[in-house]
Amino acid sequence: MKLEIDQQRLLSELETLATFSDAELPAVTRIVFTPTDLKARAWLIARCEEAGLAVRQDAIGNIFARWNGTDPEAPAVGTGSHIDAIPNAGKYDGVVGVLGGLEAIRALQRSGFRPKNSIELLVFATEEPTRFSIGCLGSRLLSGTLSAEAAGRLKDRDGESVDEVRRKAGLNGNLQDVKLSKGYYKGFVELHIEQGPLLERAQISLGIVTSIAAPACLRISIEGAGGHAGGVLMPDRKDALCAAAELILAIENAARSSGATDTVATVGVCDVFPGAVNSIPSRVKLTVDVRDTDLARRNGAMKAIESAVEMISQKRGVAIQQELINADAPADCAPEVRKALADSCREHGFPFLQMVSRAYHDSLFISRITPTGMLFIPCRNGYSHRPDEYAAPEDIRRGALVLAESLAKLCSSSQ
Ligand code: GLV
Ligand code: MN
Ligand code: MN
Repeated sequence: MKLEIDQQRLLSELETLATFSDAELPAVTRIVFTPTDLKARAWLIARCEEAGLAVRQDAIGNIFARWNGTDPEAPAVGTGSHIDAIPNAGKYDGVVGVLGGLEAIRALQRSGFRPKNSIELLVFATEEPTRFSIGCLGSRLLSGTLSAEAAGRLKDRDGESVDEVRRKAGLNGNLQDVKLSKGYYKGFVELHIEQGPLLERAQISLGIVTSIAAPACLRISIEGAGGHAGGVLMPDRKDALCAAAELILAIENAARSSGATDTVATVGVCDVFPGAVNSIPSRVKLTVDVRDTDLARRNGAMKAIESAVEMISQKRGVAIQQELINADAPADCAPEVRKALADSCREHGFPFLQMVSRAYHDSLFISRITPTGMLFIPCRNGYSHRPDEYAAPEDIRRGALVLAESLAKLCSSSQ
C-alpha cells in the first residue's frame, strides 16, 4: 500500500478553517457553538461528506464521520481531535488532528485500501474549557466520565446552560445517549501539535505519547470588603485582590516546590470587582489549573493550595471559597497503538521521541474506553494557545502519513 498525503489540499483546508474566527487573523477565536463555530462545523461536515463519509452528530455536538468498512458491524478504528479554539489562539491546536485525520482517511481511500473495520473521524465537541469551564465535555460524555445530568447543568458566563446552548445549535437529542457502547471502538489515535518545545529542540519531527498528564481545575472566590481608595486606611482593609495576589504566589510555589518539574500550576483568570481605580477590590474570582504526570504529586500540590487558602483567609480576614471543577487521573497510552505508530515511523526511517503529553486532550477520556494513542508533531518554539502557533507543512504531512498508516495497521484489511 503506497500512501500519498495531499499536502497542498490539507494546508489549504487549514488556512480556510482558520478564517472562521472571531479574532483578526492570525489570531483564531472560535468558542464552541458561537455562530462562527457553527459555520466552521458546517464547513467541516461538508468536507467530510465530500469524502464520502457518513456523518452524524450526537446530542452534545460530537461529529462522527465514518468510512464504512467491509464489516460495518466490527468495532471502528477512530481518529480525531477538536476545532474549538480558546480566545486569541492559533490555527493548529486540535485542527491538525481533525483535518490531518480527514486527509489520512482520504489518502487510504485513494490508495485502494479496503478496511474491514470502519474508520471514523471524531470531531470532539467543546474540548476547550472556555465556554463551560470544564474541558473535554464531549469526550467526558462519550466515555461516561461525566454524567449527562451534571453536563446539562453546566452554565456559561451568560448563565446559559449546556442544554439551552446545544438546543439553540440544533442539537436536540438526549445527553444520556452520548455515552458510547462498550466495544464501539477497536482503538483510537489522535494527531496533535506538541504544545511544548521538546521535539523542536531535539530536531525530531514526530513524538509518540506514552502518557497524558493529570489535569485539575479549581474556581476560587475571595470575598473581602470594598470601600473608598482614599478613605479607608491600610490597617482597616480587607482587600480581596491583595489576598488573591498572595494566593497566586502560593499557588506558583505549590508547583515549584513539589520536587518535580512535571508539576505545573497556573492562574489564568482573575476577575476583579468592582474594577474601578478608586475603589478597593471587594471580590475576586480566580481559576486555578494544576497538572502533573504523577497523580499523588498533583494531589499534593492541591493540598498545599488548600492550606494556603486557609492561611491567607485567616491572616487577611477574607472569606475564600473553593469549587473543584475537575480532578482527573492521568492516562497511559495503549501499547498496541504505540506499536502501530512506532512501526509506521520505522518503516519510513522517521526518527521519533517517546514523550509525555503535558496538555490534556480528548484522548485522556477516550483512553478510558478503548486502547488509545497520540502522535505529536512539533510547533515552533513550543508556542500554543497564542496567535503565532505554527507547525511546518512537512511535519503536518508526516504526521498525517504516519496517522494514516497506523489507522490501517489497527484495522484488519479485507484484502
Ligand atoms: C488543552 O487545551 C489543555 O489546556 O491542555
Ligand atoms: Mn487547546
Ligand atoms: Mn488541543
